[in-house]
Formats: sequence, C-alpha cells, structure tokens
Amino acid sequence: MEKRGDGTSLYGTFIRLSWHASGTYSKADNSGGSNGGRMRFTPEAGWGANAGLKVARDALEPVKAKFPGLSYADLYTYAGVVAVEEAGGPIIPFATGRTDESDGKASPPDGRLPDADKGARIATITHVRDIFYRMGFNDQEIVALLGAHAMGRCHTDRSGYWGPWSNAENTFSNEYYRLLVEERWSPKVTHNGKPWTGPDQYEDASGQLMMLPSDIAMIADPEFKKWVELYAKDEDRFFNDFSKAFAKLLSLGVPFAATKPWYQF
Ligand code: HEM
Repeated sequence: MEKRGDGTSLYGTFIRLSWHASGTYSKADNSGGSNGGRMRFTPEAGWGANAGLKVARDALEPVKAKFPGLSYADLYTYAGVVAVEEAGGPIIPFATGRTDESDGKASPPDGRLPDADKGARIATITHVRDIFYRMGFNDQEIVALLGAHAMGRCHTDRSGYWGPWSNAENTFSNEYYRLLVEERWSPKVTHNGKPWTGPDQYEDASGQLMMLPSDIAMIADPEFKKWVELYAKDEDRFFNDFSKAFAKLLSLGVPFAATKPWYQF
C-alpha cells in the first residue's frame, strides 16, 4: 500500500472506512451495516463522521474497475481486512457476498457512529457503551476494537483532532494499550508553540502522540481498563480478540452471516 508524502499511509484510513461502513448497524431492527455499500451516496457520504473517507473510497476505484463483479460493500470492508493484515496484524476471517444498493435511501439516520467527546467523562463512557451495545458488542469487544487506534491518525481537516495515537501508525500492534497505561496523558494546550484551538484531546509528555476523550474512557472505566491492561501485556490475546471482533463488525446485518461460514480468500 502506498505511503503518502506526509508520513501517513492509507492503512489507517482504509480501516476507518471499513469500520464506518459497518458501524451504523442496530441489532434492534437489523438496520444499517456494511451491506448496500451506501457510504458512496448521500446522506452517508456527507456525514461529519465520514469526513475524509472519500480519500479511501476514491483510492479503491481502480480496484473496482479491475474487479467489477466485486460489490462496493465487499470492497469497502475488505480494504480494512487487507490493511490490518498488511500492517502486520492478525488474519481476519472474511467472506464476500454483500450486495450494493443504487442510492442512499435505506441509510439509517445520522448519529449512529460515535462522538469522541460528550463533555463529562462519565457521559463519554456511557455514550461509547450505548453505541457499541446497540451493535451487539460487549465491553471486552469494545476495548479490543479500539486497539485499531494504534493505526493511522487524526487530521485537523477531517475531525478537527490532531495527531497519531502511536509511534508506528502503519504497524498493527498492541501499542495503543501500552501507551494508555504507561504514558501520562494530559489535556493538550499548545500545538507547534501556539495555543491549541481544536477540540479537547490529550497528549503524552512529548506532545507528539494523542488520545481522544473516548480513548481515555478506556482507562477511566474499571471494566474497560481491565481489558486494556490485559492487551497491553498480551499481544497474542489482543490479536486473537481483535480478529474475532473486527470480523463480527464487518459482517453485522449482512444476510450471509447467519447461513454461510466465514472463509479466507
Ligand atoms: C480515526 C474516533 C472507534 C479505527 C479516528 C478519528 C476519530 C475517531 C475522531 C480521526 C479521524 C480523522 O481526523 O481522520 C473514534 C471513536 C471511536 C472510534 C470516538 C469509538 C469510541 C474506532 C474503531 C476502529 C477505529 C472501532 C476500528 C476497528 C480508526 C482508525 C483511524 C481512526 C484506523 C485512523 C484513520 C486515518 O488514519 O485516516 N477515530 N474511533 N476507530 N479510527 Fe476511530
């Protein structure tokens, strides 16, 4: 995968694309999810949460041109699988079979993807649980999924936040958890010697790494923290749990999931 001039690459953005394509799911009525490939249409293309993901969708167009039989819905999710594996992460069980819709009429309402900050810490913790429980995940799976933040970075022109979470944003590892427990995280007040005017975020002592309020929630809540501490110590366990949770995320609401076993290409 091509590395961009600013030191970042598309790995992180592909993983985020696959997660945002899938994370609209609600188990209450089986709506949302990656089936349909609707992020290329209004309204999902214009949601604030999806800002910047056009970069990833556009980068996949040559693949779609080469394999026209592959649906956008499969392509957007498979891009995340390939990014995780190419970056040194675990094998992710994956099956094709998603179909495309021809417009965004069946998109769920905006607001199903998480906010990184709900003001008070307890409100942020509750919000994260509400969002992921709606999809059918438990606390352990939430913490495992968040480990993807070892990859990629925040962009001021997309989310308003700045910076990478880890020292190796193109390598899939358990670094996110190690940094959460080992570093001292304080509110960011300056950026490049000037006052920080962006949304509330946290930085390490060097000022080069970041955490969102929702990441800090992972060590502020004792149930979440338990898993953070485990994954910080045991990368194999993290890889195993991430693989299962990510495969589940990408298949939420997809009709094949109930009847057809996942398989590897
Ligand atoms: C990036 C929030 C969960 C993977 C981001 C960004 C935000 C964010 C604000 C920065 C976007 C930008 O400026 O480009 C959150 C919140 C979450 C969450 C609030 C839940 C509480 C997840 C999950 C995954 C994930 C479950 C995958 C399993 C990523 C990746 C990036 C990212 C890889 C880097 C994107 C890039 O480099 O372009 N996230 N996220 N996130 N997120 Fe999350």
